[in-house]
Amino acid sequence: MDSIRIRGGPPLMGAIEISGAKNAALPLLAACLLTGETLTLSNLPHLADIATMAHLLAELGVDVSMNGDACNGGYAGRVFGLTAARAGETTAPYELVRRMRASVLVLGPLLARNGYARVSLPGGCAIGTRPIDLHLKALAQLGADIELEEGYITARAPNGLKGAHVLFPMVTVGGTENLMMAAALAEGETVLANAAREPEVADLARCLIAMGAHIEGAGTDTLHITGVKCLRGADYTVVSDRIEAGTYAVAAALTGGDLQLIGGRMDLIEALADTLVNAGAEVTETADGVRVSGAQGPLRGVDVMTEPFPGFPTDMQAQLMVLMAVAKGASMITETIFENRFMHVPELCRMGANINVHGASAIIRGVEELSGAQVMATDLRASVSLVLAGLAAKGETVINRVYHLDRGYERLEEKLSACGAVIERIKGK
Ligand code: UD1
Repeated sequence: MDSIRIRGGPPLMGAIEISGAKNAALPLLAACLLTGETLTLSNLPHLADIATMAHLLAELGVDVSMNGDACNGGYAGRVFGLTAARAGETTAPYELVRRMRASVLVLGPLLARNGYARVSLPGGCAIGTRPIDLHLKALAQLGADIELEEGYITARAPNGLKGAHVLFPMVTVGGTENLMMAAALAEGETVLANAAREPEVADLARCLIAMGAHIEGAGTDTLHITGVKCLRGADYTVVSDRIEAGTYAVAAALTGGDLQLIGGRMDLIEALADTLVNAGAEVTETADGVRVSGAQGPLRGVDVMTEPFPGFPTDMQAQLMVLMAVAKGASMITETIFENRFMHVPELCRMGANINVHGASAIIRGVEELSGAQVMATDLRASVSLVLAGLAAKGETVINRVYHLDRGYERLEEKLSACGAVIERIKGK
C-alpha cells in the first residue's frame, strides 16, 4: 500500500485549483438511473469513489462514457455521459456497497424507476454505525414495501411510489438525497421536512430540476417535490468541493502561508472562514475564489461544534483540530454528527499534540510545535488531517495506508508540492 512522506515546515504559497465536489458528484451520478436519456456530468473529480460509483452504475446496466481528460493539460474535471436506457439489473451487490456507503444512493432512483431494487446493506464504517434506517422509513412512507434479508434491502413498489409528508427526525444528507430522487418520479406531492440543507443536496436538486423534476425549496429545510411521469437527460456541472477548499484553507493558516483557492466558494465555507478568522487567519473572497493567509501573530484557540450546514461541517473537524493543536491556548471541538470521529486524536498525540477526548468533545491544548512521526491513516478526513499535521511538523512524517486519501482528494501531493510543500508518495509493493 502507498504511503506519503512529508518534510514539514515551508509555508504554502501559491494557487490551488479546487476540484468538483465528491459528495455532490456521487448522488448526481446515481440520478442518471432516473431517466432513459443521457445525463452528462462535467467537473467530476478524479477519485476512487467516483470510479466505484461508475463501476456500480455499469453493473446496473448504465452505459458510462468518459471524456474530458485531455483538456487543460489532462486535469480538467472529467465529463461522464451516463445513459440508463434499459431497465437493467436492479441489484447493487455487497462487493461494491461495502467499498463505499454512498452506493446506497442508487436505492431511491432504482425503486422509483423500476418499482423494485435490491441493495446490499452498507454495514458499519470507521466513523460510526451510520445506519440507513431513516432512508428506509421514509421510502416506506412513500409506499415502498421494504424487507431486509440475507444482508440485502429489498424494496418493492410495483404500482409506483406515492407522494407523502416525510419528517426526518434528524438531518440526513444521504437520506434527503435518496428521497428527493425517489419523490421526483412518485405520484403526487412529497414534502421533505427537516431536510438537509448541504450545498451538495441543493446541487442535486438543481440537476433534477434541469432533468424536468418539480422541486421547490432547494437549499432550505423543507423540500416540496411534485412527481412527474418521467425525467429527461441534461448537462450539469458539479459544484466545487467545499471540503477540499476548506482543507487547503486550513493548510494556509497552519503553515503561515498564503493560498489562492481558485474556484473555492466563500458562500459554501462561511462557518469555517469565520472560525479561521477568529483563530487569527485572514480569509477574503476574490474574483476567482477565496484567498487565505496565515496569522500575523500566533494562532488562537477557538471552540467549535460540528453541525449540519450551514454550521461547521463534521468533514472539517479533523483538519481544524490540527490547527488548534498548534494554536495558543485551549480549544474545545465537539462532534455532534458522528459518534466515533476522533480516530485522528491518538495519531496527532503521537506527533506531540496535547488532546484529551471526553465523550463527544475533544479538549486541545496548543503546543509550540508538532514533531514528525510514522502515523496511520484511518478514514478520509482523519487521513488528510495527518497530512496537514505533517506539513506543520518539525522533521519527517510518514503516513501509511493512504488509500483513504485517494477516495477524496484529487492529486493531493501534486497540488501541495506546487505550493512549496515537500511531499512525495512512496509506492507500496
Ligand atoms: C454525508 C457525507 C459525509 C458527511 C455527512 C454529514 C456523502 C457521500 N457523505 O454522509 O461526508 O460527513 O453527510 O455531513 O455525501 N443517520 C441515521 N440514520 C440514517 C441516516 C443517517 O441514524 O438513516 C445518522 C448517521 O449515522 C449520522 C447522521 O445521521 O450520525 C448524519 O448522517 P448523514 O447526514 O446521513 O450522512 P451521510 O449522508 O452518510
